[in-house]
Amino acid sequence: MTWQEIYQSKLVTAEEAIKQIKNGDKVVTGFGCGEPFEILRALEKHYLDYRDVEIINMLTMGHSPWCDPKMRGHIRLNTLFASQSNRAAVSNGDSEFTTSHFYEIPDVIEHYMCPRVSVVMVSPPDEHGYVSFGTTVDYTFGTVDYCEIVIAQVNKHVPRTFGNSIRHVREFTYFVEHDEPLPQVKGTEISAVEMEIGKYCASLINDGDCLQLGIGGIPNAVCAQLGGKKDLGLHSELVGDGVVPLLESGIINNKRKNIHRGRTVLGAAFGSQILNDYINNNPSVELHPIDYVNNPVVIAQNDNMVSINSCLQVDLLGQVVSDTIGLSQFSAVGGQVDFVRGATMSKGGRSIIAMPATAKRGTVSRIVPVITEGSAITTPRNDVNYIVTEYGVAQLKGRTLKERAKELIKIAHPKFRPYLMIEYKKRFGEAPFTAEEQREFTSEIIDELKEKIKNDHKKLKEDIRENIDNLENKIKKI
Ligand code: COA
Repeated sequence: MTWQEIYQSKLVTAEEAIKQIKNGDKVVTGFGCGEPFEILRALEKHYLDYRDVEIINMLTMGHSPWCDPKMRGHIRLNTLFASQSNRAAVSNGDSEFTTSHFYEIPDVIEHYMCPRVSVVMVSPPDEHGYVSFGTTVDYTFGTVDYCEIVIAQVNKHVPRTFGNSIRHVREFTYFVEHDEPLPQVKGTEISAVEMEIGKYCASLINDGDCLQLGIGGIPNAVCAQLGGKKDLGLHSELVGDGVVPLLESGIINNKRKNIHRGRTVLGAAFGSQILNDYINNNPSVELHPIDYVNNPVVIAQNDNMVSINSCLQVDLLGQVVSDTIGLSQFSAVGGQVDFVRGATMSKGGRSIIAMPATAKRGTVSRIVPVITEGSAITTPRNDVNYIVTEYGVAQLKGRTLKERAKELIKIAHPKFRPYLMIEYKKRFGEAPFTAEEQREFTSEIIDELKEKIKNDHKKLKEDIRENIDNLENKIKKI
């Protein structure tokens, strides 16, 4: 049979394809921009026909219908990366969450979670009968080798990508043709705080470094600050739109890489059409499965690897929390530790964890004396190298416990520094800084409060005066 005949013989509707799913099945699906929406919509519509089916996936861009209480007993979600649409369900127990480093996820899904069915999204076949997994190769690509049933939505909007991202039509059980635009992850405007963080991160990046960048405001802000650099490389689990100008201008040219020289290496891409158009049919960008891209041993093969990731909380020991807020699962470890370790093992490599100094509109400090009860440590203190906020850079490797804490207090928001200094004294039994340094590190917030006094009414003046006196008294006592 020609490949065209094979392909035609496997073409079915979404409704027909989902009949392959049986009660009690585990079904692994594509995620992010590679979710096979048409097939999942059919499954959602016919949920009453199923009992005890488990959907295994990662970061969902759209909605997570499996979290709806009406799905109980029929179809449930087991995600490896919580997102907006399923965070509440993971927290209240309606959905399951499985934790794993991203580079291990293909192995964990294959050998420990053991799905029977895979549902993915691919490009239309090329003239040789090969379809491309587009911008989500990650854990989905490998499912073709071990799942008994592999169903693919064929969508002309899926970019054709290079690297290890193509499969022959004979490797699939069924195809469902349905074109629909991919979800668009548009960069939000970079805030002033993110811009400052971006500047500090850029100050740690040298010409010729090989970068890993996540997605979101901070990576985009870092990209915006790299205009003056040259000969950068890119080896990243995923990227957003921020890298496109750097790739187009040749600032990222990958020419100093030890492996995949001249090529950008990615596991996935989450951007807008700008990024998809750049990647489509572009031989300089390679997509590979995540057990390769995120393997710390592979990452370390490029010299001067710099990883840049974000977090939610750091304690004074330098322990990093990136995926939980207390008892709530916020996201997942993703490839954070993979890249922190890979960058550390790389000759000349560095890892950066960058975050705004505060959260919740400035009301809480992300730098804390102790991690919030219930939170899980994402990156252990022994792995941590640079922590960056809009107030500067703290380098923690080779530092004593006291030095770590002092470095971190210096990059906390000024309004939280007196409190952190007091907690430092409680822990170490001595003041962290000289009296002069203490004044220097807290003067900004004292001045701010004094400024408020000038403008506000009498009662408020008294309160603030009292506030200043308290703060100053406490600082004197340290
Ligand atoms: N306490 C309470 N709430 C906090 C908090 C804290 N310490 N830190 C953050 N929050 C809140 C924020 O205020 C925000 O809520 P809001 O939007 O209502 O204000 C929310 O939590 C998200 O915080 P934010 O910093 O805006 O998140 P982000 O979208 O920039 O993502 C991570 C940051 C850390 C969650 C994300 O990078 C992640 O999941 N990392 C782990 C995976 C990883 O690093 N993978 C490798 C690269 S892709």
